[in-house]
Amino acid sequence: MGTVSGVLLTGVGKRYDIVATFAQHGTVVAADPNPLAPAQYAATHRHAVPRIDDPDYVPALARLCAEHDLGAVVPLTDLDIEVLAHARADGVLPALVPDPEIARATYDKYEAHLLLTRLGLPSPPTVLPGEPVERYPVMVKPRQGSGARSIHPARDAEEAAFFCRYVEEPVMVQRLMDGPEFSMDCLSDRQGRCLNVIPRTMIESRGGESIKGTVIADRELIDLGRSVVEALGVRGPCTVQAFRDREIGLGITDVNTRFGGAFPAPVYAALPGRTYPELIFRMARGEQVEPHVGEFRAGRTFTRYFWQLELDEDLRPTGRDIVDPPGPPAPS
Ligand SMILES: Nc1ncnc2c1ncn2[C@@H]1O[C@H](COP(=O)(O)OP(=O)(O)O)[C@@H](O)[C@H]1O
Ligand SMILES: [Mg+2]
Repeated sequence: MGTVSGVLLTGVGKRYDIVATFAQHGTVVAADPNPLAPAQYAATHRHAVPRIDDPDYVPALARLCAEHDLGAVVPLTDLDIEVLAHARADGVLPALVPDPEIARATYDKYEAHLLLTRLGLPSPPTVLPGEPVERYPVMVKPRQGSGARSIHPARDAEEAAFFCRYVEEPVMVQRLMDGPEFSMDCLSDRQGRCLNVIPRTMIESRGGESIKGTVIADRELIDLGRSVVEALGVRGPCTVQAFRDREIGLGITDVNTRFGGAFPAPVYAALPGRTYPELIFRMARGEQVEPHVGEFRAGRTFTRYFWQLELDEDLRPTGRDIVDPPGPPAPS
């Protein structure tokens, strides 16, 4: 067995940008049950694994870690964070995830609201269906939603009651925040120390993915991001979303203890050698990374688009692309 140094990414799905960036800095193994998950083709090695609810899921990941000398496991979706959190707590996987209670609470937006409030962190007024509402308008949101699924604004009690019945899953009723929305892309070490927070605007989102935005050096947002990840004891990446409401100021609307939907933004903004994948490789090798919160280049803007791979009859990438070379023309 060699030196432990590589990274295992789980549930890679369509997140080709994340896998490809990691692969530029070291050995990456992609694990996904779907043989057509495009992002696995950016990895050094790709492996099909059992479904998350299969009792062999964690043992299969542990075998991959041993076989490929992997020192960090990073989930790219919400779906296996809690399973990985238990495996980390049991000393079975070197996963960069929070404690199981935090993983569970942040998967449920109402539990997350209660937790943030208990920790003295700003969360918009939020109640369960049938409980009294302070004021309208509100947002009716699924407690375990993702990808901006089934979220409905309601102007009064009657509309709110309708959407609470209409949405076919447990929902909550949250004050509709009036003001700009931001995301903070954060990274913490294995001790729960915040290493960096990189805030960005959300100019345009589609299906929960931020597709246009600008990195900003907003002190209040940087401090809020750090307070959240340190209070929750986050390990690894975390994305905190907040609105700056014209009346009540900052309110946190979503905490995801994984990479956010706009992974390139903090990569563009990071100082040389300090992109989050590079820092995660250092953690995988057992190095201590010093916190450098607020050190990044503000003003970088990203605008995202779709791409694809051609696969042959055996589902191997052909290496062919519709443009040659791929990417933008060289500057003249
Ligand atoms: N309380 C709120 N007020 C206004 N807009 C909201 C509120 N909550 C959510 N939204 C909008 O819905 C989008 C998705 O909601 P979010 O809570 O981030 O859930 P998820 O990303 O898990 O689907 C947000 O990015 C935001 O634009
Ligand atoms: Mg969100």
